[in-house]
Amino acid sequence: MDFDALIRDIPDFPSEGIVFKDITPLLDDPEGFGAAIDALAAPYEGQVDRVVGIEARGFILAAPIALRLGAGFVPMRKAGKLPAATIGQSYDLEYGTATIEMHADALADGDRVLVVDDVLATGGTAEAAVELVGRAGATVAGLSFLIELDFLEGRTKLAGHDITTLLHY
Ligand code: PRP
Repeated sequence: MDFDALIRDIPDFPSEGIVFKDITPLLDDPEGFGAAIDALAAPYEGQVDRVVGIEARGFILAAPIALRLGAGFVPMRKAGKLPAATIGQSYDLEYGTATIEMHADALADGDRVLVVDDVLATGGTAEAAVELVGRAGATVAGLSFLIELDFLEGRTKLAGHDITTLLHY
């Protein structure tokens, strides 16, 4: 499957000089979307108890991957969005910091967890997600991304973890 043909470049978004990788054409193509879900899930068949999806575009991929793997889906959200008691982790952005949160009771001790997001860029978000999974007493079985921006070297923050990526730019 030529996934690259289903990704659209948007120049100067969200700011001048940035070329945004828009995944909406892929999402609008049932064959391509299905093939992407299969490819991201396949390495973890029978190996995960729960799939964590990172808000917002990570949700779109993580939910069908969880169903495909027969695993639970757990949302990791931006601060203040989840209704029950949460644990949170802050991480650095280009300017300032952000925090992601997960329900404190979402993962069980010893759960094997697949972390899913659309893009691995600087790796700050994924690193915070890995930290939260560990603090919950669970184990990261791997991380799956549709896109990895190689030049930002995000995977250096995820050393020792199994990473599946469909597209490298
Ligand atoms: C984007 C993307 C990842 C994150 C990757 O999310 O969906 O979650 O950035 O960047 P990093 O590797 O440098 O941390 P964004 O914050 O734009 O959120 P959204 O999906 O809610 O738009």
